[in-house]
Amino acid sequence: MAQLEVNDIHTSYGLSEVLFGVSLTVEPGEVVALVGRNGVGKTTTIRSIAGLTPPKQGSVRWMDQDIIGLAVHRIAKLGIGWVPEDRRIFPELTVWENLDIARRPPLDGNGVGWDEEQVFELFPDLKDILSRKGGVLSGGQQQMLTIARSLMGNPKLLLLDEPSEGLAPIVVENLRDKVGMLKEGGMSIILAEQNLSFVLHLSDRIHILEKGEIHYSGTPDDLRANPEIQTKYLTV
Ligand SMILES: Nc1ncnc2c1ncn2[C@@H]1O[C@H](COP(=O)(O)OP(=O)(O)OP(=O)(O)O)[C@@H](O)[C@H]1O
Ligand SMILES: [Mg+2]
Repeated sequence: MAQLEVNDIHTSYGLSEVLFGVSLTVEPGEVVALVGRNGVGKTTTIRSIAGLTPPKQGSVRWMDQDIIGLAVHRIAKLGIGWVPEDRRIFPELTVWENLDIARRPPLDGNGVGWDEEQVFELFPDLKDILSRKGGVLSGGQQQMLTIARSLMGNPKLLLLDEPSEGLAPIVVENLRDKVGMLKEGGMSIILAEQNLSFVLHLSDRIHILEKGEIHYSGTPDDLRANPEIQTKYLTV
């Protein structure tokens, strides 16, 4: 049994269907990437898992429990952490306050998990800006904070939606290292990205989406060896 099993989901916004039977699995500690051009359904797949846009058909099983139809906060409490594309930092709250309100004890109740000490070990730069308001942070600082905030909720699976978007190359490299450290620590991650080199470095498996369907699945090595697939689905 995989930790997460998404089976043949169909998801719509109102009357317009956007996902047409997406299936994927995540094993504990795996990084599974969703790539593809603008508007192919990466965010909608993530929203479908997090409960923000529940699928109309298909199933999402998390640690052997059906979660379609559960409220967003219930799904979060079960250990699925959502790191949104638009980051959603509270601009009027300080960095510390943004972290503090997201605090949730670990599921297993043994007290071992993410708290500010662990978070600052991963993102030491946040320590220097604790009293700064969320609204004045740089894009890179905001991305670190939004991941850190999610970690404060002690997720078992992180849904990372386009973490590298809009960041300078050097910041992206730093972020890539941090996500790599999370993976090494055993975190399961679904990574939606347009930045292929980011994905190739980090993932165990990659799915390419096109018009709401998975058109290709493989390992980073498979995809590196397959420039035609890259041209067909990924380059502009
Ligand atoms: N709130 C919404 N209402 C209606 N249609 C939507 C909504 N959000 C997204 N869509 C449509 O659903 C499709 C999939 O969008 P989605 O955001 O999942 O794509 P994406 O792969 O994440 O793209 P991007 O790279 O731009 O983030 C697109 O055609 C988009 O226009
Ligand atoms: Mg998106």
